Amino acid sequence: MKEIYFSSVITILIALCEAAQYTFNVVSINKPFYSMGVKYNGIVTELPLKLFPLYSGSITADNINEYKYVLIDKSTGEKIEETITRVYKSENKAINEVYNRTTKEVKIPELPEPFREMFKMGTKNFKPFPNNDIYNVYANCDPTSYDNLKATPFVAQSEVNESIVNCEFNIITRKSAYQGKGTLHVIGFGSRKYKKLSWAIKLDEKFHGRKAIKLRALASDPTLIREKVATELYNAVGVPVQEGTYARLIINNDIYGLYTFNDNLSSKWIAAYVHGNEKANVGMTYKIYNSGNNSHGLKYLGDDPNSYTFYKIDEFDETKYNSKDKNSLYSHIINFTKLFNDWEVNYSNDTSEIAIKKLEEFLNLESTLRLLVIDALIVALDNFWLTGANAALYFNPEKNNYQLLPYDFDLTLQGSRGVKRLAPNEEFINDCETWTNYDESDNIDHFFTKSLLKHPLIKKRYETILAKTTRITFNPDVISQYVKALAELIKEDVQWNFDLIDHLSTSTEGKVNHFSYSDFEGNLYSTEIDTSDTIVDGYEYGVIDFVTKRSSACAEFTKNIDVSKIENENDKKGFSDEDDSCKHSISIKFSFVLFLFSIYILYH
Ligand SMILES: *[C@@H]1O[C@H](CO)[C@@H](O)[C@H](O)[C@H]1NC(C)=O
Ligand SMILES: *[C@@H]1O[C@H](CO)[C@@H](O)[C@H](O)[C@H]1NC(C)=O
Ligand SMILES: *[C@@H]1O[C@H](CO)[C@@H](O)[C@H](O)[C@H]1NC(C)=O
Ligand SMILES: *[C@@H]1O[C@H](CO)[C@@H](O)[C@H](O)[C@H]1NC(C)=O
Ligand SMILES: *[C@@H]1O[C@H](CO)[C@@H](O)[C@H](O)[C@H]1NC(C)=O
Ligand SMILES: *[C@@H]1O[C@H](CO)[C@@H](O)[C@H](O)[C@H]1NC(C)=O
Ligand SMILES: *[C@@H]1O[C@H](CO)[C@@H](O)[C@H](O)[C@H]1NC(C)=O
Repeated sequence: MKEIYFSSVITILIALCEAAQYTFNVVSINKPFYSMGVKYNGIVTELPLKLFPLYSGSITADNINEYKYVLIDKSTGEKIEETITRVYKSENKAINEVYNRTTKEVKIPELPEPFREMFKMGTKNFKPFPNNDIYNVYANCDPTSYDNLKATPFVAQSEVNESIVNCEFNIITRKSAYQGKGTLHVIGFGSRKYKKLSWAIKLDEKFHGRKAIKLRALASDPTLIREKVATELYNAVGVPVQEGTYARLIINNDIYGLYTFNDNLSSKWIAAYVHGNEKANVGMTYKIYNSGNNSHGLKYLGDDPNSYTFYKIDEFDETKYNSKDKNSLYSHIINFTKLFNDWEVNYSNDTSEIAIKKLEEFLNLESTLRLLVIDALIVALDNFWLTGANAALYFNPEKNNYQLLPYDFDLTLQGSRGVKRLAPNEEFINDCETWTNYDESDNIDHFFTKSLLKHPLIKKRYETILAKTTRITFNPDVISQYVKALAELIKEDVQWNFDLIDHLSTSTEGKVNHFSYSDFEGNLYSTEIDTSDTIVDGYEYGVIDFVTKRSSACAEFTKNIDVSKIENENDKKGFSDEDDSCKHSISIKFSFVLFLFSIYILYH
């Protein structure tokens, strides 16, 4: 009786096995012209299109163990098998895999944060994007305007084409698929000279709480990680910065390759990251540009708003400012520069704490100094301190003060590129404070930063932040862990990304770097770039090589600073909400006491 029962169980089990359903979800990384299939037990089965580039289907089959995805040329029927072999797991049902990319979870370590946080850096509904997924973005755009735009990213010599193109966007993540309408436009100035363009997308419906996304091409970076590392460094010291993850980008029939997929400097982002509340009223944002002789180092230029139009008005609360009235729009930049000018006149020679107190009445000094420390450590060639570019001055209405918001870190962690402001040869790398002042014949005005660092107390605080950041975060041990994890995440996309550039159809002659996988690996650590590759950007340092040298120079420069004493009041500046890190440590202490008490009870 028992035996009959047992064998029928086995029969049922076998029948169940035979009838098993296997679900496959795979993202194509090719043109819409191809479809996808799955090959198992020698059979290739085509998978239905779910939402390009995602193909999904369930197959009822005998035991499927090993399988491969197959790219199918719809016109010729040609089938191209991926190189890797996969093993089916029940979790596959819930995961979107990617053709020829291993399905893996990479843990990206957090960089240690040396200071107390000053800003919320996101909200429940506006969290940072997960940093270990590579999204897949397909933009299906109006073909004529898209083709025209990519052919003419500039309308004149140095005038950008701001046209927008209507598109439908599909965004496939590891676990979700988004579809929505929106627009696309080209972004950047220097980056627009490359054949691999950078783009911004504006969505009608939110994705992950956002409507605005920047896709940056990383066209000059053989490692594809410099911007990520730089972003994470500002983040680690508590300077709000637009962050994100990576994405593979396809627009119409153009496969662009690997991009960063980042937040934009939008009101929503400011509300969430700076104010910790997506519905917060934002103040006024002015983008600061390196506009040649117009860079006045945040100097006061009188009360006529027309003198300030080289600052670009950016995100602001339209209910509070009259967008047609220059006096209203420029009032904050006029106020700020006037306040700073007056401070400089009245207090910069006052070496007491009063000068600091007066400055902090209108400037978030702590956040400013932390930004300057990271600009210096990564030798940011096209950012606030050196060039007066790629930062915004934000009037924070909640605190009634001003702060700087940095962005776009493509020219970092690589050396000097022969920029005249930096000391020649390797000398600049040893200068961690006056590094921007070697040769000032370029007319870039450093009034603001020079006035700050002239003050002994501010200089001391700068050096203390530098010391602590160098010891805790910006050193080769910490950064190489982070770099390794990023490299692990993207390594299978690297050669594919570099090779695509020659297949990209466009009528403009953009700049092209023909990097290879070995350049990627070589430049992560040292300068190694294969000289037989034709490239337009030179590299003096590999990322880790650079971090090692810069970190050791700035550690030497600050070696006499006692960082144990600096968990001081300054760390809290700008932190308005109640201090939960303190509550947290109280509760840890309380649990520890409870724990000791239980041990006591146990033994008595
Ligand atoms: C898959 O990727 C590897 C590199 O990771 C590459 O060498 C190979 O050519 C790719 N295979 C296909 C079919 O794309
Ligand atoms: C700018 O791009 C648009 C595409 O949206 C194109 O139609 C137009 O010709 C471009 N402008 C110039 C001056 O080339
Ligand atoms: C990004 O934000 C800027 C303001 O900083 C705005 O001008 C631009 O249109 C935004 N881009 C998108 C795609 O929303
Ligand atoms: C900038 O200023 C310098 C000296 O004041 C002058 O020689 C140069 O022509 C100016 N450049 C521009 C673009 O105005
Ligand atoms: C500018 O500063 C003055 C005096 O400090 C203040 O009364 C005024 O409200 C400020 N205006 C703006 C727009 O911040
Ligand atoms: C600071 O200096 C300005 C002149 O630049 C003067 O008008 C103002 O009254 C001074 N303020 C204080 C508080 O000393
Ligand atoms: C500050 O001190 C320096 C040197 O003593 C002097 O040259 C300068 O004029 C002073 N600045 C002001 C605003 O008093």
